[in-house]
Amino acid sequence: MQTFIENLPKAELHVHLEGTLEPELMFELAQRNKIDLPYATPEEVVAAYDFHDLPSFLAIYYPAMGVLQTEADFYDLAMAYFEKAAAQNVVYVEPFFDPQGHTTRGVSFDTVIRGIHAAQVDAEAKLGVRSQLIMCFLRDMDAASAAAHLEMAEPYLDWLVGVGLDSDEKDNPPAKFADVFGRARELGLRLTMHCDVNQKDIVPHMWECLDLIGVDRIDHGINALDDEALVDAIQARDLGLTICPISNRFVVQDLTGEQIRQFLGRGIKATVNSDDPGYFRGYMNENLLALAEEAAFSREEIAQLTRNAFSIAWVSDGDKAQYLADLDAYLARAE
Ligand code: ADE
Ligand code: ZN
Repeated sequence: MQTFIENLPKAELHVHLEGTLEPELMFELAQRNKIDLPYATPEEVVAAYDFHDLPSFLAIYYPAMGVLQTEADFYDLAMAYFEKAAAQNVVYVEPFFDPQGHTTRGVSFDTVIRGIHAAQVDAEAKLGVRSQLIMCFLRDMDAASAAAHLEMAEPYLDWLVGVGLDSDEKDNPPAKFADVFGRARELGLRLTMHCDVNQKDIVPHMWECLDLIGVDRIDHGINALDDEALVDAIQARDLGLTICPISNRFVVQDLTGEQIRQFLGRGIKATVNSDDPGYFRGYMNENLLALAEEAAFSREEIAQLTRNAFSIAWVSDGDKAQYLADLDAYLARAE
């Protein structure tokens, strides 16, 4: 099973580039930028990763971004992730970035996006990892800030495939961002939003995603299972879900394997992703392997999750068909 997962050609649709920051790179960047870290070694950093819910994770995630200062830093962050992706046979990625996590510290939008974009270009040419970037808005900031960042992004529209919504969901409903997501749609961007697991008002938030925002897919979305009509609507609209099992184990103490299996059983395009692998200590292969080892997922189920990811990727129909054909060829060989 491990070899089957490792060699499987995969797509990742829910990974925050800032969440791929490994402790070793954190130290390297801190040294480069003459920043004092409150830790003596990378091991001490990992030992401090004591998350038990979304706020306790975010309280460590945002301050750590302070080591990212220059275009080269963002390039190195993104390239380190793409190298990991290549090593794990991840051939296609739609990564998130959080510009407000940087502009609020005085790092310009241009610095962030130029560094990431340069790494995307090199990763495709040198590693064969193709990617399309999604800009996330921080939902615990106001809608005016989100709108201002969408304006900053307009000169770079060709470098973006979509917009997303992340950070602390409590009392920050999708409706707060209806106007800015409407504008993003007018600009030709795809729309997704986090519906984090077991958050306050999560079911009404999910309905807003569907009926008010008109999202193209949903990040996480486990709580659809709390409302039968919501499951039906997600199925009827063929909305994909980008689920993150190891992240869920940290945030809600549940790998959510049974829930993922229920989505698959109902023909919903659930996928598996790493979310913040530098923090949760698991990339794509570790997430799929956790489902196999801890929730008895079969090869067929792992293959279906992977097929779903290519099916809901924001690529042309021709590219999608090619990715799916490559996957089928692998599955035929692996039998
Ligand atoms: N930012 C980074 N990871 C996140 C997550 N899992 N949920 C909300 N915001 C995030
Ligand atoms: Zn996420």
